[in-house]
Amino acid sequence: MFTLLRRDRSKKLRVLLTRTLQDFAIKELQKHYKIEIHSGPFPMPKRKLLLKIKEQDGLICFPYDNIDKEVIQAGTKLKTISAFSVGYDQIDSKYAKKRKIKIGYTPNVLTVATADLTITLILDLLRRVTEGDRFIREGKWKEVFGADTYVGEEIDGKILGILGFGRIGKAVAKKAQTFGIKVFYHNRNRLPSRQEKALRVRFVTLNELFSKSDIVSIHVPYSVETHELVNKSLIKRMKKRSYLVNTARGKIINERDLIFALKRKTIAGAALDVFYHEPIGKNHQLAKMQNVVLSPHLGSSSIVTRAKMAKITVENLKLGLAGKKPIYSV
Ligand code: DGY
Repeated sequence: MFTLLRRDRSKKLRVLLTRTLQDFAIKELQKHYKIEIHSGPFPMPKRKLLLKIKEQDGLICFPYDNIDKEVIQAGTKLKTISAFSVGYDQIDSKYAKKRKIKIGYTPNVLTVATADLTITLILDLLRRVTEGDRFIREGKWKEVFGADTYVGEEIDGKILGILGFGRIGKAVAKKAQTFGIKVFYHNRNRLPSRQEKALRVRFVTLNELFSKSDIVSIHVPYSVETHELVNKSLIKRMKKRSYLVNTARGKIINERDLIFALKRKTIAGAALDVFYHEPIGKNHQLAKMQNVVLSPHLGSSSIVTRAKMAKITVENLKLGLAGKKPIYSV
């Protein structure tokens, strides 16, 4: 009996997690697989990943990992990669597909959370809430308000330019409109005019999006095409009193160009949830600027959304390892 049990257990497929998941998800994984979890504050070093992946049938990864061709090649037994994210730019999906490895990801469930955060950042930035919070905590609030102290901007009547009009872009548009914002958008594919009318949005060129908007919010996926898409040539088109918001991926912006514009005040400010390299510390140049609101990659981080993401990540993995198509498959 004991030997039988031992053999059964050893037959379990092996799954590597580059970071842990909620307890309920870990318990579910443990029921079916022999799992190994990388812990610690930073992504699994490549060397370790290359070594570990050799024995794994499945991999659960996160946006900051780098599951490139070399890693996938090393994973000779790998059958499924399940990403705990809507973005899957961290995976060389072309190569994985060639190897017939199934890839799962978690779209839809984080649309609301990410759109909520985007609106939060826009309001915070324009009404200077975080900046005011810092002001108080640093003991600088020494006098009652005067007629023009600490004034910010109202979002009512502003033009919001949405770059990337997929699920999240559309959700942001809808929420923003309830605050009286006008929405322009730019996307690879333009919507049919009937749809534009129904959504009350106007298509503009990429250049127009940057030159006409009061707030530009980024919602394109990260790819070779969008790498540093927002650089000085677009930033210099922005109005002096305009703002840039990014809840997509850090590398879509050329951070140096943005910092330059913020320092020179050629734009009014920025709100950023994602960065070129994460995490960033208090000595990062962006962390020293008053006209910038920062958040630590919180896009999907509501309790409800993160639980849904974990559930789907596990389900996708299980389906993939059973030779079936994940619920959300790349
Ligand atoms: C994603 O899912 O891609 C997000 O960046 C996680 O918050």
